[in-house]
This record gives sequence, structure tokens and C-alpha cells, in this order.
Amino acid sequence: MAKDTFFPEHFLWGGAIAANQSEGSWNKDGRGSSVADTAPYYENQDYAKYAAFDELSIEEIEKRLADKKDIYPKRWGIHFYERYEEDIALFAEMGFKALRMSISWSRIFPKGDEKEPNKAGLDFYHRVFRTLKQYDIEPIVTLSHYETPAYLATKYGGWINRKMLTFFSHYCETVISEFKDSVKYWMAFNEINVIDHSFYVGGAVPTDYIKDEKTDKYQVIHHLFMASAMAKKILKDISPNAQMGGMLARREGYAASCDPLDVLESIKDDQKNLFYSDVLVRGYYPSYIKAFFKENDINLIMEDTDETLLKENTIDYLSFSYYMTVLSKHKIDKDTELTTGNLVNGVKNPYLESNEWGWQIDPVGLRITLEKLYDRYQLPLFVAENGIGLQEHSDGTTEIEDTQRIDYLRSHINEMGKAIKNGVDLIGYTVWGPIDIISMSTSEISKRYGFIYVDADNFGNGTFNRYKKKSFNWYKQVIASNGEEI
Ligand code: BG6
Repeated sequence: MAKDTFFPEHFLWGGAIAANQSEGSWNKDGRGSSVADTAPYYENQDYAKYAAFDELSIEEIEKRLADKKDIYPKRWGIHFYERYEEDIALFAEMGFKALRMSISWSRIFPKGDEKEPNKAGLDFYHRVFRTLKQYDIEPIVTLSHYETPAYLATKYGGWINRKMLTFFSHYCETVISEFKDSVKYWMAFNEINVIDHSFYVGGAVPTDYIKDEKTDKYQVIHHLFMASAMAKKILKDISPNAQMGGMLARREGYAASCDPLDVLESIKDDQKNLFYSDVLVRGYYPSYIKAFFKENDINLIMEDTDETLLKENTIDYLSFSYYMTVLSKHKIDKDTELTTGNLVNGVKNPYLESNEWGWQIDPVGLRITLEKLYDRYQLPLFVAENGIGLQEHSDGTTEIEDTQRIDYLRSHINEMGKAIKNGVDLIGYTVWGPIDIISMSTSEISKRYGFIYVDADNFGNGTFNRYKKKSFNWYKQVIASNGEEI
């Protein structure tokens, strides 16, 4: 299908992966354990309550790290650590202009509080960036994608502790200086708002350190905001032409009805999500959150210079993940139908279809979110994640006909085009999981997002060979035509 193209000439088409979901080799070449290594895959798990979001005590973290059972798929990922050249060559064949990826913090600083980095870890990313350069693929690098060194969680309590700012700054200085000639686009934290759903995934905080959930959550968030601002400051000093982005798990939603109370509820839900980008973009805490702090007796511990640091080091572009939308309703009763989703369980929308995991498919919602965010911030936007997880199987002899994925992506790309036509400054689009990787929420590989199939099961059995799905050539044509042939 041809469409009028509105995508700018240097639009960053590509895909997005994360170290903890793809690299594997969790204890190779000096890498330390990360909090992601403790996330199990459980057969027959309850999708309304993901195992990856379990809150863990120090004892449980240590017990899981010592557990040798094959139920922790993020430890082996898809063997990207060994097979990155083959994978990048496949991305290049699709014509990728960009690859969003993360650096595994514990590959660089195995425990997190060391002075000297692990050279083997730095060497690995040099090799990856060199390979990307060979194909003219722009790396977009997330500094922390749910992979805080586990030692920082157990020894210091993770992001509840202000000392994390020192460790994170040292990590930023190290990798930004090391890779300044290779990387122009950075992001500090993946989905900075995930702390809304889990202290452990979002803040690497074990339960032992949580005293008062409400206050502690915002104290963690304050430290994450500070760390983002510090990362931006470090980047400006070392690499003034590079850009630091923020990354939000966008919760786009609608009022469940035109009852003014539902509309008000949806505004409140939106504020809970936009609070994060408001601080990252504007550099100060908005009035609605200050009112919430006052009402709830939340008193953050801040130092005198914190507000200035936040104000002076705002992000250069705003990126976000977008998978679905949900509804807001002021009164949820036993008859209200709920649905699961990316970090949200919300009210089900009768106008939308869902994937097998209950995530509601809403391409127009992507346009709505792009227009809303651009109106609000007038800052370049970047769709850092979008895609659909499907159950698929291949033995390599027949091609997987993933027309559902093609339809999903086509409809979302179409809506992006319309938003751009309407004036939105969108700089890129990286499809989540261009190659099958381990699911963040369920730690399974059987929830597949890729254009490329990986022959592996949830327990690490398989050849790990890569096979192209039908969508591979489809996306190749989308990129080659700059979004015209979709
Ligand atoms: C985002 C995360 O929330 O969603 C990714 O940034 C994650 O890490 C993606 O993989 C898709 O979610 P899931 O749970 O299906 O892997």
C-alpha cells in the first residue's frame, strides 16, 4: 500500500533492544549480576500479576542469584553477546538507520561501586559500535534499562539511597567519555516511571529498605530525576553536540464515558504519567504534584542545589514507549471489565481489540499521544518502542507469516505520518524487539516481537539460529521508501 510520505529525510527508522533481554552471558568476561538476572520465567503464570514485578527482599535476591535452575531467561537472552555481528548484519539488511540498545551497567562496573571499569565490558561495546558504524547505523544508547548491578540493590538499597548518584555519575562519565566518538543520542533511564509499578524493577530497592511506601517512592523518583540531570550535565561537558533524551512509558488513555467525573479521572491519571516528563522537560516539580505531596504529607529530602541542577539540565528530546491505551473510570465496581497491559492494568475499551496478553491495540492513540506531547512540550519526540508480542513457532523450513504484526505496525506508522503532517517534530521510530528477545514482564521468549525469529524456548533450549519472518522484507521496504510503501 502506498501512502503520502511525511517522514523527514533523516528519520531514524530502526529497532530497539535492551542488554538484559538480549545479551545473555550474564557471568562472562567479568560481568556482575544485575537485578534483571533474578527475574524468573514461570510456566502458567498469571498475566495480571507479572513475576518480573515481584518485590524482593535482600535474602530473596541472593537466593535467586545463587539458584542455578534454568528459569531465568534474561541470563542467556538470545546470545547477542556472541552473535551481535550476525544480528547487526540482519538489521543492516533491513536498512536500519538506528539501533536503540542499552549498556549493561554491571558489565562495566560489576558491583557498581568500583573505581575502575571492567575493560572487557568496554571492549564489547566498542566492538558493537564499530559494527554499527560499518553499516551506518546510529546507536541510541540507554544508560539504564532495568539492569542496575544487583550488589547496589543489596548493599545500598538501590535508588532509595542518594549515594547511587555518585555511582551512576561515575558510570556515566566512564561510558560517555569512552564512547563519545561513537554515540550521539543517549537516554538516561528506560521508562523512568516504571517505579509506579515496582520498587525493584524501577528502583532496584529491596523490601528491607522500604519504610513508608508513599514517601519512599517519591524519594526514589527524586534521585532518578537528579541522576538524569547529572547525566545530561556530564554529556554537555564531555560531548556538547550529543543529545540526552528522557524516556517515558506513555500511558495514553481516555475517559470511560463523558461523565465529567470520568473525564476528571482521566486528567488525573494523565497527570500521574506526565509528571515524569514534566520534570524532565521543564526542570521543576509541577504544581499538581506539589499539591499531592502536601495532601499526603510527603516531604522529600533534597539538597540546596537540587532544584538548580534539575532546572539547568533538562532533556533535549523526549522518547517514549507506546503499545496500547486504557480507560479511566472514577468508580470501578465488580462489573467493570479490566485488562492487562504494558505496566498498566486498566479499564477495557470496548472499541479496541487486544493481543493474546490483553494489550489493547490502538494506532490512533499513538497519534493522540504524539500530538498531545508535542503540544505540551514543543520538543523533538522519539518513539523508542512500539510493537506487538505474538506466539509464533518455526523450525526454519517455512517462513512465519506474521501479518498481524505487519498490520499492527502499518497502522501505527500511518498514524505517525499523520502526526508529522500535522506539525509534530518526530525524529525516529524504533520498533521494539526487531529480533525476538526475552520479555521484560514475563521473562519468556515465547512472547515474540521480532522481524527475526530466534530458535529458542523459555528454558534456553534450541539452536538460537535466526530466521527471517515475513515482516522482515516488509519493514525493509518501509524504510527504503521512507514510510511511503507500507
Ligand atoms: C517496555 C520495556 O515496557 O516494554 C521493554 O521498556 C519491554 O523492556 C517492552 O520488553 C515490552 O514488554 P514485554 O513485557 O512484552 O517484554
